[in-house]
Amino acid sequence: MRLKRNPQDILISRLYAANQDNICDHFLRLDVRSRRARFCGAVNDNGILDYARNIFRGDSIVCGAFVDGRLRGVVELHGVFQFWASKAEAAISVEPDSQNIGIGDALFERIIAMAQNRGVRNIQMMCLKENSRMRHLATKHHALLRSNHDAVDAVLHPYWPTLASVMKEVVGETRG
Ligand SMILES: CC(C)(COP(=O)(O)OP(=O)(O)OC[C@H]1O[C@@H](n2cnc3c(N)ncnc32)[C@H](O)[C@@H]1OP(=O)(O)O)[C@@H](O)C(=O)NCCC(=O)NCCS
Repeated sequence: MRLKRNPQDILISRLYAANQDNICDHFLRLDVRSRRARFCGAVNDNGILDYARNIFRGDSIVCGAFVDGRLRGVVELHGVFQFWASKAEAAISVEPDSQNIGIGDALFERIIAMAQNRGVRNIQMMCLKENSRMRHLATKHHALLRSNHDAVDAVLHPYWPTLASVMKEVVGETRG
């Protein structure tokens, strides 16, 4: 069992192309199990690198979670730069040694605020049925879960932007 970190110890910050190497290293540190959970299937190092190098392509927002100054988790939101985007897809990855200490929860919270601030009305996340931790986090953030075969679709409907959601992003970025 792992102790939860104080939320103040987890810094969430937006990532840019300059962080590309860090992002690649983060994905390479995911073990077989976490890769399977993240990508809903097996992915080798080359596949991971291909994915990580294209992470900013087009219409993505990427945030990182830093603990003791090191990148430990990443959340991606794809599909947000269309005019008044109605739908976006999100995915989270936390490194094995840093799982279950509160990072995924913190990333979840930030990406919901960021989607809300950009008028996204529908966030979709996909995970394997057996991924009970992810399902728990999704439900905790009021997602509706839809099951199909081996996977579960979690759908969130953010509210319209509020002062609180804007402050969450601005204050979070300032800390980060
Ligand atoms: C799933 C994942 C993102 C969660 O992030 P995390 O940092 O490990 O999760 P957190 O520590 O923030 O929160 C875990 C929560 O799940 C609960 N939990 C832990 N193990 C659980 C389990 N087996 N079943 C149900 N709930 C569980 C914890 O009690 C905690 O709940 P709380 O916030 O209500 O106290 C992370 O484990 C991960 O990256 N896994 C591999 C990739 C993946 O599965 N990505 C999701 C698909 S996109």
